[in-house]
Amino acid sequence: MTGELSPIDKAKFVAAKKATDFVEDGMRVGLGTGSTAAWLVRCLGEMVREDGLRIKGVPTSTRTAELAREVGIEVISLDAAKWLDVTIDGADEFDGELNLIKGGGGALLQEKIVATASDQMVVIADIGKEVETLGAFPLPVEVVPFGWQTSQALIEETLVGMDVLGRSSTLRMNGDAPFITDEGNHILDLHLGRIGNPRQLAMVLNQIPGVVENGLFIDICDAVVIGYGDGRVEVRDINAGTVEEATLDFVETDNLFTDLAD
Ligand code: 5RP
Repeated sequence: MTGELSPIDKAKFVAAKKATDFVEDGMRVGLGTGSTAAWLVRCLGEMVREDGLRIKGVPTSTRTAELAREVGIEVISLDAAKWLDVTIDGADEFDGELNLIKGGGGALLQEKIVATASDQMVVIADIGKEVETLGAFPLPVEVVPFGWQTSQALIEETLVGMDVLGRSSTLRMNGDAPFITDEGNHILDLHLGRIGNPRQLAMVLNQIPGVVENGLFIDICDAVVIGYGDGRVEVRDINAGTVEEATLDFVETDNLFTDLAD
């Protein structure tokens, strides 16, 4: 890899690096999906290769599974692991109660299953992901392909009774074709603007026929590691009520970038 990382990538990197403090030898670790989670996988891979860290990783997508194997992490299925010590993943938005919007990368279903099967879920994010109220980022909802337009109509109808600003939704595309998740489903992105009651919305959406899961993660996240472009990190633990601040040295080692093209 050549050239400098952008401030946003540095922020993602330092958040991911700091979050490796949550990982101990022998742990079963849920590995998130997305650009921030990819940094975590690279950092953990380096610790496996260089420091002899022994972990078993449960990936939340085929993308993450490929990267984890590439950097030297032993990959096992969630069924083989049964329960995880910690899951570390990115987020599209997080609020003051550490409720999240996830699924920007289309992996929300596996991400929610894996996070919920963990003693602890830690979110890694740059400071731009923090919001007062969830909803500016379109809320991803995974729906089965059969009758997806009916599900979409039911969702939009249901939103009439909800505390949201907007009610439109769009089918996520991958070029000219609908985006297909790892489970073979579609994603509807709900343009809500503001979600007044995320807990209620998360429950109501999952009652609609055809909806598999939604991207609201309520009471699942235990801690967030926030990265800044200048190397500062902040660790907020919602259970302990603590905030820790630190600054990480940023060193671009070739080892970390084995999967990245020049
Ligand atoms: C994937 C996700 C990601 O964690 C989320 O989209 C954040 O991605 P990034 O770290 O690339 O900003 O939920 O489904």
